[in-house]
Amino acid sequence: MKVPFYSTRYVNDQVKTLMYKAFDEVMESQYFTGGEQVEKFEKDFQTYIGSSNFITCANGTDALEIILRTWDIQAGDEVILPALSCQATLEPLLLLGAIPVFCDVLSQGLCIDPVEVEQKITSKTKAIIAVHLHGNWSDMKSLVSLANKYNVKLLEDCAQAHGLKFEDKHAGTWGDAGAFSFYPTKNLGALGEAGGMVFKDKLEGERARRLRNHGQKSKDVHIEVGRNSRMDTLQAAFLSVKLEFLDDWNFQRSQLAAYYRENLIGKVKFYSGTTTVWHQFVIGVSDREKVQEYLKEKGIGIAVHYPYLLPDFIGSEEFFPISAEAVKSMISLPLYPGLTTDEQEYVIKSLLGK
Ligand SMILES: Cc1ncc(COP(=O)(O)O)c(C=O)c1O
Repeated sequence: MKVPFYSTRYVNDQVKTLMYKAFDEVMESQYFTGGEQVEKFEKDFQTYIGSSNFITCANGTDALEIILRTWDIQAGDEVILPALSCQATLEPLLLLGAIPVFCDVLSQGLCIDPVEVEQKITSKTKAIIAVHLHGNWSDMKSLVSLANKYNVKLLEDCAQAHGLKFEDKHAGTWGDAGAFSFYPTKNLGALGEAGGMVFKDKLEGERARRLRNHGQKSKDVHIEVGRNSRMDTLQAAFLSVKLEFLDDWNFQRSQLAAYYRENLIGKVKFYSGTTTVWHQFVIGVSDREKVQEYLKEKGIGIAVHYPYLLPDFIGSEEFFPISAEAVKSMISLPLYPGLTTDEQEYVIKSLLGK
């Protein structure tokens, strides 16, 4: 049997007819950037997450960068972020010349440790980035109170956390802003690149909307240097269709995760948090290379999120014990709507060497 690490086929097949209809509507309108469908998706997603300032953009990396630019983060400003995340969380800081200040993560959920965040706040700190890694909830209550106490901005990287909420309040609406990616393999994925930003403050939202469209206030009135990071009309139309299914797909993820947990408990380390939308199912094994090789021979796809720490990229030698342990032992198992029980059984049996 072959079990791919990821497949978008099931979710996309489920909505195929609706997607063709959405495609026809866009073709009919002949709007390929902006237009009715983009406005509709902005409204739909706003209603879904319970916020009033959601702005689409071209991808999740741009979302992070535009949010930081909206807050005037610039060279020399310090921004606190977890040592463990994907490159895209760090890149916008480096592009702006800001100084990344890394913190370790908590072993349950692998999200930033608020106690360490407080220790690293200085007079130069301008923002904190919380990443809801693998779909796990960052401790936003503690982070919001730190951001208020020290008067710094709080950005939630929600690229892996569509539909995640705590006490009925969605990820992205706890901090001052949230960045979303709708990359095809995310819990809510487009059929190409797409992203979005949500702001607590209306004026900040308006500025971000300008920045993602050449700094234009209105047609041909450019009041600052922006860029082109608009969402394609087609992607917006597809995302509105898929948003209707997100809760159901997240539920399927949770069922699959429960099955893995039931069968693997006591045999591998679990890295998931208690509140999660299961973007990844991440376990820790002591002999990762061997396990990887063995599962590959068995035709099972796995991934490592991530194989290096962000401080490594900038040549920092600072030590982060929990992140360091995770980075050498983590593997992500196949988990996506459409994964069958037979496939999951095969992964479990193979992993346990039966
Ligand atoms: C945590 C995190 N942040 C940011 C991004 C960037 O999103 P995009 O690929 O849409 O630019 C990703 C996507 O992989 C991500 O996983």
